Amino acid sequence: MTQGRVYLVGAGPGDPDLLTVKALRCLENADVVVYDRLVSPEILELAPVGAARICVGKKPAHHPVPQEEINQLLVRLVKSNRQVVRLKGGDPFIFGRGSEEAMELARHGVPYEVVPGITAAQGCAAACNVPLTHRGLATGVRYLTGHCRQDADLDFDWDGLADPDTTLVVYMGRANIEEIAGKLMAHGLDGDLPVLVVCNGTTSRARQLVTSLSRVARDVSDSGFEGPVLFVIGHVASLASVMEPSDVTQEKIVASALG
Ligand SMILES: C[S@@+](CC[C@H](N)C(=O)[O-])C[C@H]1O[C@@H](n2cnc3c(N)ncnc32)[C@H](O)[C@@H]1O
Repeated sequence: MTQGRVYLVGAGPGDPDLLTVKALRCLENADVVVYDRLVSPEILELAPVGAARICVGKKPAHHPVPQEEINQLLVRLVKSNRQVVRLKGGDPFIFGRGSEEAMELARHGVPYEVVPGITAAQGCAAACNVPLTHRGLATGVRYLTGHCRQDADLDFDWDGLADPDTTLVVYMGRANIEEIAGKLMAHGLDGDLPVLVVCNGTTSRARQLVTSLSRVARDVSDSGFEGPVLFVIGHVASLASVMEPSDVTQEKIVASALG
């Protein structure tokens, strides 16, 4: 009998074409898929029709299935020798609590494997033609959570974060973007520094805007964006229009000429 195994799989930011080949193989062989809210329905469809699908989705500030129960569920499922895919948005080890689940599996001696996924930062930036690093504009990139456990204060090294040469990508930052932008400016970043805001990036519902650090909180609040939002703060955000592929630019010129 095949031994059960858990695959902690990154589903990427939404577009099914951004799944890795390995993630697709895991899904096609799954007996059970335990998935998060941010995993798109098109990706779930890739699992066999007979595979069980269990949603343990979490909404911001709302945890329908506590993490401890998810951990126990994975251990229980694998003990019945099933191939369990634990499917998470983006990459399982970037703000995905995949490491907590992996620790629990290791503690119980459960065989598991991590299948990385394209994280929201890479997927959303690429979809907007924005590089996360660029010679002369950004020598590095940092991924930052904009939301701390149980709404704790954002107790970060603001001096270290306020580096104009580093692209700062903020996940889960919508509720706190006013505070984050304010602290970054108070610690030296220019209010004119460009910010790319992406909502539902890489999906058919994707929306984006480019603004500045001083205006980002107001512009996002006025945007009507609904869905997960990512902030890319730094000079690279100004390349969103510069790097637009020429066929897209041509389409826009034609569309505006036609009125
Ligand atoms: C709990 S974190 C999970 C991150 C995920 N593990 C990853 O690697 O992308 C959820 C946050 O990721 C960001 N996010 C995930 N998918 C996104 C998308 N398609 N568009 C914009 N932001 C996204 C948002 O900031 C959202 O609040």
